[in-house]
Amino acid sequence: MVFRHRQVIDTLPSYKQGKPAPQVEGRRSFKISSNENPYAPLPSVRQAISDKALARINRYPDMRGWAVVERLAAETGVRPENIQLGCGSTEVITQLVNLVAGKGDEVVYPWRSFEAYPIIVTTAGAESVQVPLTPEGAHDIDAMIAAVNDRTRLVIVNNPNNPTSTSVSDADVRRLLAAVPQDVLVLIDEAYVQFNTDPDTCVGMDLFREFPNVVVAQTFSKAYALAGLRIGYAIGPEDVIDGMRKVALPFGVSAAAQVAAVASLDAYDELSERVDALIAERTRVIETLRGQGWRIPVPNANFFWLQLGERTDVIAGYFEKAGLSVRVFSGEGIRITIGEHEANDLVIAVCAQVFALTHSKVLVD
Ligand SMILES: Cc1ncc(COP(=O)(O)O)c(C=O)c1O
Repeated sequence: MVFRHRQVIDTLPSYKQGKPAPQVEGRRSFKISSNENPYAPLPSVRQAISDKALARINRYPDMRGWAVVERLAAETGVRPENIQLGCGSTEVITQLVNLVAGKGDEVVYPWRSFEAYPIIVTTAGAESVQVPLTPEGAHDIDAMIAAVNDRTRLVIVNNPNNPTSTSVSDADVRRLLAAVPQDVLVLIDEAYVQFNTDPDTCVGMDLFREFPNVVVAQTFSKAYALAGLRIGYAIGPEDVIDGMRKVALPFGVSAAAQVAAVASLDAYDELSERVDALIAERTRVIETLRGQGWRIPVPNANFFWLQLGERTDVIAGYFEKAGLSVRVFSGEGIRITIGEHEANDLVIAVCAQVFALTHSKVLVD
């Protein structure tokens, strides 16, 4: 870049969107690269958008998103003052980082994890302290505790972790919270919380109620299938939420997103049946793959992780040829979203083919 700018931005990778479904002649292809919900929007949600939002798009939306905020407050039993909306939880995480961390400050988080974290932290002017995952793809809580110092302004727990799908236990997060000074915030990013079936998992909302420095981020993008509308939220202490509102993108959350969020909360039973179906599909896929010989970290989100190391790119080619776009982390592994039944069958078939070709060498040890 030849124009004057913040040099630190040159160090950032651009956020990579999951690739679209590849075009393979003669066969149906699938996008399973972005952890999206494969189900089409509910008719009731579409209807609500068309009845309540479309006719008003000449107007700015309600900036505070009261209808959603009040509804979430009623559902969760917290005060509206504890809730802040954003354009997806990506934006609420950005608000939080902008609020607490600037030049000279540090944000501690596991790595590899959600790709937006380094972008958000560096853009805020702060420094990322990336704590490597354990060999099993889980948070290394002791190492995270050891990484906290006087410069730490935020610690992020990603439960379940993207891309490894591993759950973080309640005991581990409590240990972390006991070690972090109470004036340093701990964000529990629960984008996939509805898919988490680990009985020992930490529950962000319980911790929010117990600790003064816990903020929880959740989203309508995944279980609620509203990724295209961009709406997520944070639940946190009132003064934190106040601060986040000051740094929020004005009018960031559209009226369509707000209306769809309320309609989705109304349709919670229907949506949660879909979540259950995706969890059942996840179990089917993982059990079949384990039967093939694969070793896979226990998944607790709507995706799973194949740790493949240097073979990643070659193996990625097999998925592509089969009509599947998966998320490839070169030299590390592949993240695969649980999608339509047919997509999952294809994943199983490709994994069988790849496993037979490479014997057991592609396994996680
Ligand atoms: C761990 C994690 N957190 C947050 C998000 C943000 O999602 P959204 O901005 O769509 O709410 C994602 C999206 O993939 C994610 O994987």
